[in-house]
Amino acid sequence: MMLFSDELIAWYRQNKRDLPWRNTNDPYVIWLSEIILQQTRVEQGLPYFNRFLEAYPTVTDFAAAPEDDILRLWQGLGYYSRGRNMLVTAKLVQQHFGGKFPTGYEQLIKLKGIGEYTAAAIASFSADEPRAVVDGNVYRVLARYFGISEPINSTQGKKIFQQMADELLNREHPGLHNQAMMEFGATLCKPKNPACGICPVRLGCHAFKHNAINALPVKLNK
Ligand code: ADE
Repeated sequence: MMLFSDELIAWYRQNKRDLPWRNTNDPYVIWLSEIILQQTRVEQGLPYFNRFLEAYPTVTDFAAAPEDDILRLWQGLGYYSRGRNMLVTAKLVQQHFGGKFPTGYEQLIKLKGIGEYTAAAIASFSADEPRAVVDGNVYRVLARYFGISEPINSTQGKKIFQQMADELLNREHPGLHNQAMMEFGATLCKPKNPACGICPVRLGCHAFKHNAINALPVKLNK
């Protein structure tokens, strides 16, 4: 029997979208993409990513930019604190790490604007550090496949989902595993009208078996 992670990785290799930040190990470039993609759809974020990378090919270039230039390039994305935090972080990386963007989770998590998800994403995509990412896509995939009705926004729920994601993580290919989980959630196991008919893991899926696709994940209104 093929493991859940192996199935998803096999699916990912065949079905992934060709996105520019997937063809690099550069932690700066991955950071740029992940901050832009917070609260922003891929189609909307893509032109911003390209413009930023063109204007600032390295973190050294970014760190030297006037804040007004960053915010002008950011226009239309919303949540402008993201752009401001990026400049703070770029300057810190320039000054304290000699312009070498860190790849280690423990270093990344200390930087402004980088939380658990983003630190795990950068560490796993750039250096294959075994850190499981948990974002909205991952919550949905795990809740449905394993039939977990613990609310995803409760303290207990967050703990359970993180533990489960950690256990599932493919230790040989953490970066690939994380990309596969997120891509699967974003393009197949979607919030509405998921493509169960072509899903490679539907036979093992609790929600598919019990007609609970639309009931999972559970989110508390608070
Ligand atoms: N959303 C957030 N991170 C992403 C990534 N690396 N690829 C595609 N969509 C994403």
